[in-house]
Amino acid sequence: EPAALGNARGLDFTPVQPNTRDAVVVPDGYRQAIVIRWGDPLFPDAPEFDFDHQSAAAQARQFGFNCDFAALLPLDTLGRDNLLVTNHEYTSEPFMFRGYDPANPTREQVEIAWAAHGLSVVLVRQGRDGLTPRFSRYNRRITLTTEFEVRGPAAGSEHLRTSADPTGRKVLGTLNNCAGGVTPWGTILSGEENFNQYFANAGTDPRRARYGITPGTTTRKWERFDDRFDLAREPNEVNRFGWVVELDPDDPDSTPVKHTALGRFKHECANVRVARDGRVVAYSGDDERFEYIYKFVSSGRIRRGGSRSARRHNMTLLDDGTLYVARFTGDSPPEEIDGTGKLPRDKAFDGRGEWVPLARGDRSFVPGMTAEEVYVFTRLAGDRVGATKMDRPEDIQTHPHTGTVYCALSNNVDRGKPGKEGATEPNPRVLNKHGQVLELTERGGDPLALRFRWNLLLVCGDPEDPDTYFAGYDKSRVSPISSPDNVAFDRHGNLWISTDSAGALAGLNDGLYAVPVQGPERGHLKLFLTVPRGAETCGPVIGERVVTVCVQHPGELDGASADRPASHWPDGGDAQPRPSVVAVWREGFIGG
Ligand code: FEO
Ligand code: CA
Ligand code: CA
Ligand code: CA
Repeated sequence: EPAALGNARGLDFTPVQPNTRDAVVVPDGYRQAIVIRWGDPLFPDAPEFDFDHQSAAAQARQFGFNCDFAALLPLDTLGRDNLLVTNHEYTSEPFMFRGYDPANPTREQVEIAWAAHGLSVVLVRQGRDGLTPRFSRYNRRITLTTEFEVRGPAAGSEHLRTSADPTGRKVLGTLNNCAGGVTPWGTILSGEENFNQYFANAGTDPRRARYGITPGTTTRKWERFDDRFDLAREPNEVNRFGWVVELDPDDPDSTPVKHTALGRFKHECANVRVARDGRVVAYSGDDERFEYIYKFVSSGRIRRGGSRSARRHNMTLLDDGTLYVARFTGDSPPEEIDGTGKLPRDKAFDGRGEWVPLARGDRSFVPGMTAEEVYVFTRLAGDRVGATKMDRPEDIQTHPHTGTVYCALSNNVDRGKPGKEGATEPNPRVLNKHGQVLELTERGGDPLALRFRWNLLLVCGDPEDPDTYFAGYDKSRVSPISSPDNVAFDRHGNLWISTDSAGALAGLNDGLYAVPVQGPERGHLKLFLTVPRGAETCGPVIGERVVTVCVQHPGELDGASADRPASHWPDGGDAQPRPSVVAVWREGFIGG
């Protein structure tokens, strides 16, 4: 296509206008359809969803709440049948139950919430109406009662032993699974993010405080119904969450794994790249204000080919390797980074960085900490080596052609507040409401490298505001964007970004954006779709024929609840909102 059109390859759509509609809004010439909603049955014995008569038994056989990450894994070369794997990050009880009393949840409500967390695997078939779920032998629910195997250097650690599991190697369930990744060997990685919120009575232990685990009761009050959520009774249960989880969706009987070698923090995600020598590298962000970016380098090498034994071998790669944390240095004088977002004199927020080793196997590189402590209390290890405090590291993806690494830094409204760190070149704005997108180039393009260069691709916000930057592109032609969260690539190498801004941009709905990162259109950010009021856009999968997104927590606005719904999406009328996966495609392109 001629560059004069202002469209990079694969992005010749007219951007949608920012809006506050209670709908998914797609460009002219595109169609959309719901793929699956909270409560839709995954098995023939599952009941149809009934908002007013939900049960834990039904929920355990239905699609979970608040879908976040999604992967589409083709089962055939035509892409007709695919496995859709999704994370169910968290439950919002006031939106799940009419008349919910937060002071006195019932056991049934709590058990529904346990069953609504975790992951879903469901076969979806591509056809005229987008992607339609089918019952299949692959369909599976992972909930808070599914058994996981703990592997890697902290498996069996004294910090992981509980009265129910004196081995420290078997955990029931996974919590707050946010983003994830598809491994080159076809499994799913899923990050356990804000696990702190489920555990009560932390006492005064500073290691717990460092993870935001607080004294007193929790919002959901699960500790009343199962001692494992009460740290006064089960002090180590909380240490069994905050890991990267791996699931083999091809084998519905497989036991999912928690990989301790990738460290324990509020993992947004983990994404794997293969180095030239076959070792694998996993990048992961710790999504909280002033937290760090990590990478793991395996000791073993990938085995090629799709055999079961190759996959079994590859599923051990994340058990053994070196864990690193990132330290960033800016190349502009500190006085030019004034916190306003104004570009320094070299016209770039950029510089160099290094990966600082934390531990390998039973060997710690952190003074005063054993390897076991580094893996279980990884944030403290990052503190000790002076890792760089970032503005909420969310999803990280590697460009499929160039190998450049992209990280969404969502926002950080605390930067520069009294007692908090001020602006730094990679985090150049104080009271940062809108976030930035970081490009990181490993030395020599080698993911094993311990040095890198970095720069900011986007400094997000309203392009009319002077504190924004769109890779130097003409700001009169780009869409406003706030709080980048998930990142993905299409086959042309364009970067797609979904947002979670909670209305930070003049109350406008969140959306999915696309931006070329190479060529003359680099920085030309365009809004592809918006999601309903109160929702966050998650889990984008940019396929050749169809784009899917997860619409998480529609209607979750201040003052809203099941008694006062702020959204009726997707069912319409006076229906309650339901988190759902949506497919979008160009008219005619998949027969619609
Ligand atoms: Fe669950 Fe970091 O978003
Ligand atoms: Ca600079
Ligand atoms: Ca996220
Ligand atoms: Ca987020």
